[in-house]
Amino acid sequence: MKRKSVDPKFSMCVQPSFIIGTNNEDGSYNFAPITWVSATCEGGDEYLLVVSMFGTKRTKQNVIRRGLLSVNLVSTQMLPMMDYFGSKHAKDGIKNDITYGVSCGVVLDVPTLDESPWVYECEVARSVVTGDSTTFFCHIRNVQMDERLSPKDTFDIDLTVLDPVIYSGKYHSLGKMLGSIGDFYKADKT
Ligand SMILES: Cc1cc2nc3c(=O)[nH]c(=O)nc-3n(C[C@H](O)[C@H](O)[C@H](O)COP(=O)(O)O)c2cc1C
Repeated sequence: MKRKSVDPKFSMCVQPSFIIGTNNEDGSYNFAPITWVSATCEGGDEYLLVVSMFGTKRTKQNVIRRGLLSVNLVSTQMLPMMDYFGSKHAKDGIKNDITYGVSCGVVLDVPTLDESPWVYECEVARSVVTGDSTTFFCHIRNVQMDERLSPKDTFDIDLTVLDPVIYSGKYHSLGKMLGSIGDFYKADKT
């Protein structure tokens, strides 16, 4: 592979796309796309979702105030919704120029998007401030999974069924499911 060095401002990161659901101070709901999302684990099998937000956006203020959020995976069908939620700031008015279904979380009092195939209901465990960004480490109190999936275990999720949007500054869809750990390298036992 021949590579060239370029300015670090091109530090593209392959990002999953999620829409974060929160409640405003008056109890109404608000949604905004956030693609700075990852996961970590403190031990055992309890994962923490890691969600990072920049600036003073309403979504960030709501998470700081309530410590609760829904994290809704964005499928390619939801692209118009993500584009809309990302281009309208809550401070400029209620995001009701498009129609979308909203339900309450099953375990937590968080607004969730009916169209999303995979939803985490999250409670903030800790947050870390780095300059203008705040990164929230969140307990996952419930996962709502598309009923078409029936995985054997946590390593058995076929992402092509969920059809997620992948973001790099541009929107992409996934290609094929290629296999599982161990399918591509077998240690020589002789
Ligand atoms: C594709 C996409 C990804 C985004 N990812 C992030 C992100 O990871 N972190 C962040 O702070 N803002 C991100 N934003 C910006 C917010 O979604 C945007 O500022 C939004 O209008 C905030 O809405 P709010 O005012 O309702 O909180 C993203 C926007 C788009 C369109």
